[in-house]
Amino acid sequence: MGSSSFKALLIIFVVALVNSVSSQSVVCPFDFLYHLGDGVFDNGNSIVIQPKLPAAHWPYGITYPGKPTGRWCDGLLDIDIGATAMGFPVLTPYLGGNASSNNAIIFAVARSPILGRSFFASRRVRIPPYAMPLNIQLSWFKQHIHSICSTPTDCVDKVGRSLILFGDVEANDITFPLLQGKSIREVRTYVSKVTQAQISAAKEVIKMGATRVILPGNVPIGCYPFILTELGPNKNATLKACCGIGGKYNYNGRRFCGSRGVPVCSDPNQYIYWDGIHLTQAANDRLSQILQVDALESLNCTSSEKIYYPLDNYNYLRQRKSVVISY
Ligand SMILES: *[C@@H]1O[C@H](CO)[C@@H](O)[C@H](O)[C@H]1NC(C)=O
Ligand SMILES: *[C@@H]1O[C@H](CO)[C@@H](O)[C@H](O)[C@H]1NC(C)=O
Ligand SMILES: *[C@@H]1O[C@H](CO)[C@@H](O)[C@H](O)[C@H]1NC(C)=O
Repeated sequence: MGSSSFKALLIIFVVALVNSVSSQSVVCPFDFLYHLGDGVFDNGNSIVIQPKLPAAHWPYGITYPGKPTGRWCDGLLDIDIGATAMGFPVLTPYLGGNASSNNAIIFAVARSPILGRSFFASRRVRIPPYAMPLNIQLSWFKQHIHSICSTPTDCVDKVGRSLILFGDVEANDITFPLLQGKSIREVRTYVSKVTQAQISAAKEVIKMGATRVILPGNVPIGCYPFILTELGPNKNATLKACCGIGGKYNYNGRRFCGSRGVPVCSDPNQYIYWDGIHLTQAANDRLSQILQVDALESLNCTSSEKIYYPLDNYNYLRQRKSVVISY
């Protein structure tokens, strides 16, 4: 057997193994997973747009898989853990060049807001050049759907067999202006515009045939180091960033995690916050465990066995992969 066909056989075996592990555990009544959002769910898009971003550097990915992946975390995101539980073990970043070959695509890009660039320009609020507001991600989603379906009926059918998640994103619409000196009173006037934009995006995908759309709410952003550093009260060690330097909360926006000379804590598993803006894998894992069982149930996913502990499954997959490949 030639070495390339041997390799192909191994790949098929690995894929079969991954599929069998996931499908044995949970069966969900949908075949596609799409996620639009920001750095909480970005698994490699922002570093395609801007390869020098922190998430492309040490110590991102230090807990898993041991090197940067473009996730803004030391390890896995809650969508990695949740998607594995729903039977989607591989999540492809849309800009990663592989989107057409996978059923689970992440459109999320770090630091992206809901409202568009012109809105923020008119208020003199700066948003990062690599951010991709919701309307752009929505256009990517439409392009992607049209690239995988052949007739209008087929397109509606495929969207109908999807789970579509929007966000959370809206934290950026609120925190960019707040951190740039806008008053709470002014920023409050953005809220109805943000909500309207979310509703109309959801309506658009429903018009395309979607039957399962989730708009996750935002976590309490007032507890994050990047907000506490600017606007917060006394020091609380629990709320410090694991990776960062300076200030009351180990956070300095000018010396961000991933920059030269910025240290990382010795055990990210002991921290809630990774870089001051994003959670650690340990926090993501806890969140997933809390949310997952109910979420799977309300999405009508069924399981032949008790829903497993997600990280165990990930480690299991990782071990199996390395065993097979080194064989
Ligand atoms: C594309 O997908 C294949 C199979 O899932 C994977 O082996 C490969 O690394 C991916 N390529 C990129 C650029 O992500
Ligand atoms: C820090 O905040 C957490 C959550 O509010 C609280 O449980 C903990 O007691 C606080 N720790 C200190 C040292 O104040
Ligand atoms: C789950 O199943 C119930 C009962 O068949 C149905 O009413 C509901 O719409 C389903 N929910 C989803 C999200 O598919």
